[in-house]
Amino acid sequence: MQILETKRLLLRHFHLLDASALRAIFADPEVMRFGDGVQTDAWIRGWLEQTLANYGHWGFGPYALVKKENSQIMGYCGLFYFPELAGQAEVEIGYRLARNQWGKGYASEAALAVRDYAFQTLSMSRLVAMIDPGNLASLAVAKKLGMVYEKEILLEGYDHPDHLYVLETPK
Ligand SMILES: CC(C)(COP(=O)(O)OP(=O)(O)OC[C@H]1O[C@@H](n2cnc3c(N)ncnc32)[C@H](O)[C@@H]1OP(=O)(O)O)[C@@H](O)C(=O)NCCC(=O)NCCS
Repeated sequence: MQILETKRLLLRHFHLLDASALRAIFADPEVMRFGDGVQTDAWIRGWLEQTLANYGHWGFGPYALVKKENSQIMGYCGLFYFPELAGQAEVEIGYRLARNQWGKGYASEAALAVRDYAFQTLSMSRLVAMIDPGNLASLAVAKKLGMVYEKEILLEGYDHPDHLYVLETPK
């Protein structure tokens, strides 16, 4: 199901057949450097199954980024539900692209559309992003969205804190 369209991208629901396209993202150590590290095919399948379940359960999830020009999947951008993050439920806006697609403005283009979709269509009032302070590209995307630093947050299994960035609709 298509969710959004931007100038150069279509954002649609993932399906299980997208597993091989996701290897360029989840099996690349550079792409996974700020994250849980390189993942296996079995892990990718599990991620897709969970993603499909989340569309049904929460009404949102990560969306496949498809380049209009050639229908190629270049990564994901979307919304992740955390039932308990530092004491409260949060929705994270997240993005991850295959390395050969970096630096062309795709993450910003997709994330701006997902931010507006979250606030205007899904009626959310707050989005967060958990960013490793060394991940300057991710930080640049978050700042373009208008996100601001709130606090440090230590995630389970991590040896150093991420920075929590937030964006709230005016009350
Ligand atoms: C983060 C990521 C999605 C950015 O994707 P992208 O399509 O290259 O981003 P954009 O081209 O939209 O660039 C966004 C901004 O980041 C800046 N940027 C990109 N790489 C940068 C770097 N290494 N250092 C500093 N700034 C950088 C760009 O200059 C741009 O700002 P500008 O438009 O003002 O020039 C991509 O690097 C990625 O997939 N990284 C690995 C996964 C990841 O870390 N995801 C985020 C987890 S929190």
